[in-house]
Amino acid sequence: MATRASSTGILSQDKASEREELVELLKKAYWMEIETVMSYIANSVNPDGVRAQEIIESLQEDIEEELGHAKQFAERIKELYGVVPGSLEFAAEQSYLQPPEHQTDIVHVIKGVIEAETGAIEHYNRIIEFTDGLDFVTQDMVIEILHDEEGHRRLFEGYLREYEAEGLA
Ligand SMILES: [Fe+2]
Ligand SMILES: [Fe+2]
Repeated sequence: MATRASSTGILSQDKASEREELVELLKKAYWMEIETVMSYIANSVNPDGVRAQEIIESLQEDIEEELGHAKQFAERIKELYGVVPGSLEFAAEQSYLQPPEHQTDIVHVIKGVIEAETGAIEHYNRIIEFTDGLDFVTQDMVIEILHDEEGHRRLFEGYLREYEAEGLA
């Protein structure tokens, strides 16, 4: 007996084109998370100096969270009948999170993290809007991830404020 396709929701036949569009948005989100993991590993190891320690510890925690996000996006791509892309499809975009000239330049790292989190926040808001009334499961997942990114950005905005207050940023 042939299995029956779902007649309602994002997995239904008549939602095929919306589903494909959504899978593309999720692939972009997946790559953003993967690149963030790379950037945060580098920026949690490179910095020098006493003041760098807080940033290093923060980024170490974030690496685990961002990796978790990447896995969630990958799972959802599959559930929506998509295929998680291979590494050859990866194209780097985070020019702002490259190692600074001097490894004591913590402000460069803080600003780069804020930029990365802001990019994620913008893209995830877009997915939340796209999935509204279309795919509540993806929407629910991305709302939760968005909450994490907003927390990350707020934390690093706090670090930046401290440097600004001291005239260092
Ligand atoms: Fe993330
Ligand atoms: Fe984040």
